Amino acid sequence: MKTALLFSTKYGSTEKVAKQIAGKLNINVEIVNLADQNIDIKQYDAFILGMPVLAENTTIHMRRFLKQNLDFITDKLIAVFLLCWNSQKWEVYLEKLFNNKLPKDCISACMGGEFNFDKMHDIEKNIIRDMTGVEKTTSKISQTQIDEFANKINRRLG
Ligand SMILES: Cc1cc2nc3c(=O)[nH]c(=O)nc-3n(C[C@H](O)[C@H](O)[C@H](O)COP(=O)(O)O)c2cc1C
Repeated sequence: MKTALLFSTKYGSTEKVAKQIAGKLNINVEIVNLADQNIDIKQYDAFILGMPVLAENTTIHMRRFLKQNLDFITDKLIAVFLLCWNSQKWEVYLEKLFNNKLPKDCISACMGGEFNFDKMHDIEKNIIRDMTGVEKTTSKISQTQIDEFANKINRRLG
């Protein structure tokens, strides 16, 4: 089964998590950054998607990808992970991003999130400070969630 892990990132944390997940899977996955490549989705049998929540939405690349391809890949979508700071809202975000079209058996998780102040513009830093009180680079990415997510995929595909 040819599997693609497609991700999109603005500040780098989703890419980091995508690589960790791929390293924990018992199958080979092709990791693709949607900002770098146009992919031919017809060549894959299964998809894992990863994206950050940004202003209650996601990156332009992932939005475009979902708009163009979600209907085609729905039956092949085995897992989705989000990076987000407000982990209490992740399921609301997920439903919104996928327009309530996620298959019931799709494995999904929120890995937490991080603020990478080195990669933000001043305006973004100010918004984050005002909204969250966070003033410097801070990570609350959950290794437990990453492990559980990879284990679930391994069990499903194993
Ligand atoms: C400008 C900005 C807006 C964000 N908006 C949200 C949000 O609406 N909800 C949330 O839970 N997290 C939000 N976050 C937190 C991101 O989801 C988190 O920083 C994530 O790790 C970013 O992923 P990336 O490094 O792959 O781009 C926001 C972060 C930034 C910098």
